[in-house]
Amino acid sequence: MTLAELENMKAESLREIAAAGAAADVEALRVKYVGRNGSIPALIKAMKDVPKDDRPAFGKAVQAWRAEVESALAAKGAGAQSGGKSVDADLTLPGRWRSLGVKHPLTRVIEESAEIFGRLGFTVADGPELENRFNNFTALNTPPHHPSQDRSDTFWFGDDCLLRTQTSPVQIRTMMANKPPIRVICPGRTYRRDTTDATHSANFHQIEGLYVDTKPVSLADLKSVLAYFAKAMMGDGVTVRFRPHFFPFTEPSVEVDFTCHVCKGKGCNVCKQSGWIEVAGAGMVDPRVFRHVGYDPEQVSGYAFGFGVERIAMIKYGIPDIRWLYENDMRFLSQLG
Ligand code: PHE
Repeated sequence: MTLAELENMKAESLREIAAAGAAADVEALRVKYVGRNGSIPALIKAMKDVPKDDRPAFGKAVQAWRAEVESALAAKGAGAQSGGKSVDADLTLPGRWRSLGVKHPLTRVIEESAEIFGRLGFTVADGPELENRFNNFTALNTPPHHPSQDRSDTFWFGDDCLLRTQTSPVQIRTMMANKPPIRVICPGRTYRRDTTDATHSANFHQIEGLYVDTKPVSLADLKSVLAYFAKAMMGDGVTVRFRPHFFPFTEPSVEVDFTCHVCKGKGCNVCKQSGWIEVAGAGMVDPRVFRHVGYDPEQVSGYAFGFGVERIAMIKYGIPDIRWLYENDMRFLSQLG
């Protein structure tokens, strides 16, 4: 090849590049001229066949051609790179930023609860969300005429299949599968036919707790465990009070309030001036429940409690509307990292 021929090829290549419009055409020309098997690398490889005297001039011309083709390609926005020699990247730019995800507030409350109760010897038990009548009601001493068994309160699928209304059936499953002592918490989803508003949702989460032993267990044991949890979860200065209540599966039964973590009991908007916030139901396991799972109530005693995960998350993080927890709105969620 003569130098003149080389100049012709160069002019032709630059004309082609100048005429190329679509990115794919530019890329095709990049491959054609400066790609691994392109004409310019081929010429460089063939340099040894050029007569020795002509080589310097020829080499210079080829390098000039390559430089011009590359800058023409770069001007067209090609990711110009040839022979792996020059990298078209600005190494002084900062790296690509990827945002770190954060855990959902409900997940955080569940994990933190498991950790706190774990310190007290509780393990985590699990159960299905689709339950039968026995585990969700009968074994929990809840009679057929109880309002919670009604179709207007519970999602039923036929006569013996329902979406659990509470995590208490996991108590039943755990006791039927194990011998005392038992010390478990059972976090999970629960379902009720509630109309969804700022504080209710048809699907919500509970954490059930159960302690059963062959040595006597008392209401004071229950209170001390919940008091420990209150402080660990909500902060020092938060304690618990029990109010008498009724649950079919516990006797005596109580509702559990935490001192308001915002005003520490003085009264504020968060606690509606009462100084207390209701968080859980609890009590001593009813002897009838023990009989249903095949335990002898003369031999064992225990307590159970159940609290709402949303409730804890809402008071802990100051979330005014339960629906925010389900909307996956990043403007809300990313604030809670
Ligand atoms: N399961 C009860 C509820 O959903 C809460 C509870 C659990 C009460 C355990 C007592 C003992 O309201």
